[in-house]
Amino acid sequence: MTILVTGGAGYIGSHTVLALLERGDDVVVIDNLSNSSKVSLERVTELTGKEPTLYVADILDRHVLRDIFSNHTITDVIHFAGLKSVGESITKPLEYYENNVVGTLVLLHEMLQAGVDSLIFSSSATVYGNPEKVPLSEECQTGGTTNPYGTSKLMVEQILRDFSLAQPEFRITCLRYFNPVGAHESGRIGEDPNGIPNNLVPYISQVAIGKLECLSVYGNDYPTPDGTGVRDYIHVLDLASGHLAALDHKAEGSSFKAINLGTGVGYSVIDLIQAFEKAAQTKINYRIVERRAGDVAECWSDSSLARQHLGWQATRTIDDMIRDTWNWQKNNPDGYGS
Ligand code: NAD
Ligand code: UFG
Repeated sequence: MTILVTGGAGYIGSHTVLALLERGDDVVVIDNLSNSSKVSLERVTELTGKEPTLYVADILDRHVLRDIFSNHTITDVIHFAGLKSVGESITKPLEYYENNVVGTLVLLHEMLQAGVDSLIFSSSATVYGNPEKVPLSEECQTGGTTNPYGTSKLMVEQILRDFSLAQPEFRITCLRYFNPVGAHESGRIGEDPNGIPNNLVPYISQVAIGKLECLSVYGNDYPTPDGTGVRDYIHVLDLASGHLAALDHKAEGSSFKAINLGTGVGYSVIDLIQAFEKAAQTKINYRIVERRAGDVAECWSDSSLARQHLGWQATRTIDDMIRDTWNWQKNNPDGYGS
C-alpha cells in the first residue's frame, strides 16, 4: 500500500510514518514544516532503514496535491496536517479555519478527482466540549467547543459525515485522540513544541531538564480525587498503531466512523508529576494557580468501540509514557535543534 500522510513530519505523524514503514507500506508525506522539522523524518529513516518521499508543501496548494496523486498510486490518506494550539486559535481564528477546514476541503477535492477513497482524519476529544459524563463514548453528544481549534475539528467531522453520504464509496474514519504523550523508545523522535509548551507533559519535561523553573498546576479545586484535572493520556506509539488498525478495518460497516483513541483510564496532574519524579529521579517544582479558562475537570474515554471495530487497544502504561518522554527529553534537550 502507498499511504499519503499529511503533516507526517509532526509529532504524531512521524511516529505513524515509522510504524507504516516498519510494516512494509510505502509512505509519501506532505508537510509545510510550519510546526516541525524534516530531521524527524531523517531519524525515521535512520530507525527503519526506509525513506518516505517528502513533499515540503502546503495542503492548501491543490496543484502539489494533484502532482502527488498523479506521481504515486496512493491507496489511503492519513490526514494529520493542521494547526493545533488551543490558545493560538483564539487569537488567529482565520488561520485555524483556513488550515484545518479549508485544507481538508482542498484535500477531499483532490482525492475525489484522483479516485482515492480512503481517509483517516485526526480528530480530537475536544469535539465533546464540556463532557456530559465520563467515560466518553462515541454516543455522547458533540458540540459546545470553546475555541476555534475545537470548532474546526467539529466542522471537519460534519463535513466528512455529509461527504460520506454523497460519496458512499469513500471510507472515512475520524479518530478522536485523547491526550497523546510519550515518544519512540529509541529517544530519537518525540514531541518538539515551539517555544514554551502549553501542554502538561512537555511542560513538566522542561521543568525536569531545568529549562523551565516551575510548573503551574491549573486548579486543585475540581471535583476529582485530588482536585486537579484528569485526562486520558495515551502513548503516541499506541496512537500510531491505532492508525494502522484503522487502515486494516476500513471496509467494515458504514462509510463514516468516528472512533475514540484513548486508554480508558484517567490520571490527574498530580499523578503525572509523581510519575515524572519517579522516571527522572528528580523533584518537579510546582505551584497551584487559578484554573485555566476553557479547561474541563475530567475527560477520559470509553475505548470499547476501538476494540470492537478495529481490534485495537492501547497497551502502554502511564509509566511507559513518562519514561519514553523523559528519555526523549534528556537525549534531545533542544528537540530536533539539539
Ligand atoms: P504537529 O503540529 O506536530 O503536526 C502537524 C503537522 O502538520 C506539522 O508537521 C505541521 O508542519 C503540518 N502542517 C500544519 N499545517 C499544514 C498545512 N497547511 N500544510 C501542510 N502541512 C501542515 O501536531 P500533532 O500533535 O502531530 O497533531 C497531528 C494532528 O492530530 C493535528 O491535526 C492535531 O490537531 C490532531 N490532534 C493532536 C492532539 C495533540 O494533543 N497532539 C490531540 C488531538 C488531535
Ligand atoms: N495543565 C496544568 N499546567 C500546565 C498545562 C496543563 O496544570 O502547564 C493541566 C490542565 O489544566 C489539564 C491537564 O493538565 O488539567 C492537561 O492539559 P493539556 O494542556 O496537556 O491538555 P488538554 O486536555 O487541555 O488538551 C489536549 C490538547 C487539545 C485536545 C485535548 C483533547 O491540547 O488540543 O487534549 O484531545 F483537544
